[in-house]
Amino acid sequence: MTQDELKALVGQAALQYVVPGEIVGVGTGSTVNKFIDALATMKDRIQGAVSSSNASTERLQALGIKVFDANEVGELAVYIDGADEIDGSGFMIKGGGAALTREKIVAAQSRRFVCIADESKLVDVLGRFPVPVEVIAMATQRLARQFAAMGGTARVRLKDGRAVLTDNGQQILDVTGLRNTDPLAFESEVNQWPGVVTVGVFAHQKAAVCLLGTASGVKTLAY
Ligand code: 5RP
Repeated sequence: MTQDELKALVGQAALQYVVPGEIVGVGTGSTVNKFIDALATMKDRIQGAVSSSNASTERLQALGIKVFDANEVGELAVYIDGADEIDGSGFMIKGGGAALTREKIVAAQSRRFVCIADESKLVDVLGRFPVPVEVIAMATQRLARQFAAMGGTARVRLKDGRAVLTDNGQQILDVTGLRNTDPLAFESEVNQWPGVVTVGVFAHQKAAVCLLGTASGVKTLAY
């Protein structure tokens, strides 16, 4: 099975976690796009979605799924999103698509995080994938020095030679070289550095369930 087929498999499998009659939290990325496409088949049985990015909002709306502002609704039953890496405890690195801040907000508003991923995302220890950090531009060099003191190398994410801007208008630092053996402590520490908007380690908002796409089908990991 191709990676694309594995993503479609878990996107479809995630429908079983959507609570009929309710509003579902929707993440961002190529795996979530498969979920959104599957969600369209039951759009008449849900109220709609809270979205974590402009890209997901556009896709949801194009398929006729109503998108609510996070401030218009209360707690959500479930949030469905992908990950760049997930470990055996449900801790994740996210933000490869630069949507980490809104993703963490919607995850925090939801009772249960269901992660959908192909098996290449499962790791023993987080850190092979560079940790994305959304930052205020004037702090990038000082933050880079703070990451260097931890053994990491931080680079501003660029596209066509220009800094990538998030949906919130901020920059992303991608940090390599950090083997993350204590994601809870790492997330707490980095989140309180001045200039950090959000760090892309999801430990306090970890997954409750991961639907992992494997060659032999969907494997369900519960944490
Ligand atoms: C976006 C994310 C995505 O969930 C993550 O990058 C995985 O994306 P994909 O499903 O395309 O591999 O965190 O900010």
